[in-house]
Amino acid sequence: TEKWIRVADYADITEDDTLGVDVDELPICLYKLNGAIYATANKCTHGDADLSDGLIQDGCEIECPLHEGRFDIRSGKAVSAPCTEHLKSYPTRMEDGVIYIQVG
Ligand code: FES
Repeated sequence: TEKWIRVADYADITEDDTLGVDVDELPICLYKLNGAIYATANKCTHGDADLSDGLIQDGCEIECPLHEGRFDIRSGKAVSAPCTEHLKSYPTRMEDGVIYIQVG
């Protein structure tokens, strides 16, 4: 069954930036790229770092603040060493200026 959870207001996120939120105790990182919202797990799959503290690079990649591995924000795919395990990514939806993500 689909479960959409309200996570933030659209205006809470700056273009080309991240926002870390906890959804049902699940750490999620939100991103705004060209006005579109994406959501992935916030913990790097390589170690104990929050991707919301990282930098967006090359328009669609998040660079981990700890060892500078990278993931494609749109798919969660690990794209650069030392990251090899993909991030979980979540569908997002916008309604009346509110962002929802689908977690189940
Ligand atoms: Fe993220 Fe190592 S903890 S690249």
